[in-house]
Amino acid sequence: MSMFTARVDGLKAEKNSAQRIVAKQLEESGRSIIDLSAGELDEPAPAVIRDAAREALGTASNRYTETIGLPLLRRQLAAMLSTRTGRSWNADQVAVTAGAKQALFNIALALFDSGDEVIIPSPHWTTFPAQVKLAGATPVLFDTRDAAYQLDVSSLARRITPRTKAIVLNSPHNPTGTVYSNESMREVGALAQRHGLFAILDQCYGDFVFADRDGVRAHDVNCFDPSKLLVVDSFSKAVALTGWRLGYVAGDPALIAVIRAIQTHTTSNPNSLAQAALCAAMPVGWADFTQGVRAKLGANRDLIVTNLCGRTDVRVPHPEGGFFAYLDVRDWRRPAASGGPAVAEEFCTELLKRECVMLVPGTAFGDPHGVRLSFTPRREVLDQSLQAIVRFLDLTR
Ligand SMILES: Cc1ncc(COP(=O)(O)O)c(C=O)c1O
Repeated sequence: MSMFTARVDGLKAEKNSAQRIVAKQLEESGRSIIDLSAGELDEPAPAVIRDAAREALGTASNRYTETIGLPLLRRQLAAMLSTRTGRSWNADQVAVTAGAKQALFNIALALFDSGDEVIIPSPHWTTFPAQVKLAGATPVLFDTRDAAYQLDVSSLARRITPRTKAIVLNSPHNPTGTVYSNESMREVGALAQRHGLFAILDQCYGDFVFADRDGVRAHDVNCFDPSKLLVVDSFSKAVALTGWRLGYVAGDPALIAVIRAIQTHTTSNPNSLAQAALCAAMPVGWADFTQGVRAKLGANRDLIVTNLCGRTDVRVPHPEGGFFAYLDVRDWRRPAASGGPAVAEEFCTELLKRECVMLVPGTAFGDPHGVRLSFTPRREVLDQSLQAIVRFLDLTR
C-alpha cells in the first residue's frame, strides 16, 4: 500500500521526461538539439516592465502585500478586463495569483468536492485534470479530436450529469492551437446557464490570435452567467514572464473572497516585485511588444501552414491562436522494419534521434496520437526544424 494520499496517486511531475532523457544522451554524444517543446515565448519581457522592476527593487517592495494582490493592480486589471470584455468589472472581482496555475488551483479548491465532475475538452493542458483530481473531484474528458478540436456542443451536452459542476474552456488552446468559434462559445454559455454550471475560461494565450476566426480576439463572455464565470489569465505568455509567476482570476466577489482565504493559508501574496513592476508598467502599456510578438508568431504560423498543413500522413489543423501547432500522427507509419502502428511517443523519439528536433508527445495531453510543436523560436530556427520534420516524414511515410 502506498504511504501517500489517494489524491497524489498517479500524479506526475515531468511532461516529457522520456524525450528529455534521449535529448540528453544525444547532447552528450555531441549533437545539438532544437527544442520545440517549450511552453513559453523566446523573447525577453517588454523593457517597460523590466525597467519598472529595477525601479521597484530600488524602492524596497520587500514586504507582504495584500494576499490577493496590490489594490492598485487589482483595479488596473479590472479596468483592463472591462475594456476587453465590454462588461464592467471591479477590483473586488479580481484576485492576483502566482500565475494562472495558482488561480486555477484556487478555483478547484474553492469549487470542487469529492463526487463532483468537471468537463475538460481533450486533448488538454496536462494540469487541468491533475488539479481537479487534487481537489478530490473527477475530471470528465471530452474528446474533441473528431471535431478538429472544436467544441461539438451537442456531444458536450451529453457528457453533463447531475454531478457536473463546471466546464473548463481554454481558448486559444494548449496544445491544439484552436480558437473556439464565437458561436460555439455562445452555445456553451447557454448550456452552462441551463445546467447551472461554472465556466472556467482560461485565456492565457488570448493576445495571440491569427486566424481571426469570426473576428475573435477576446471571447465574448456576455453569454455566461456572471455569477458562474471565472476568467483566468496570466502575464506568463502575454509578456514573457513565466518565471515571475503572476496571473489572476476574475469572478464573483464571493468566490474571490474564498480564494483570498485559500491564498492566505497557502502562499500569501504573489511576488511583490513582480506586482509592483506590473502596476507601474500598466499605464504605459506594451502594445509594441504585443504587436511584435504577434507578427513574429503569425509569420511562424504561416511557415507551419506551408510546410505541414497540407500533408496526408500527418494531419495538422491551421493554428488559430497561441503558439502551438498540433500534429495528428495516427496515420503516420514507422519504417517497415520497425512495424506496428505509430504512436506519439514513438514519433517524437524517432524524430529526435534522427533529426535532433524535440517535440512533445500528446500522451501528456491525454492523446496518444497527437504531437505538440511550439513555434516560438526565431524564424531561421523554425524553418530549419520544419525542413527536418518534413525530411523525417518523407523518409518514414
Ligand atoms: C492553458 C494554460 N493555462 C495556464 C497555464 C499556466 O500559466 P502560468 O505560468 O501563468 O501559471 C499554462 C501554461 O502552460 C497553460 O498552457
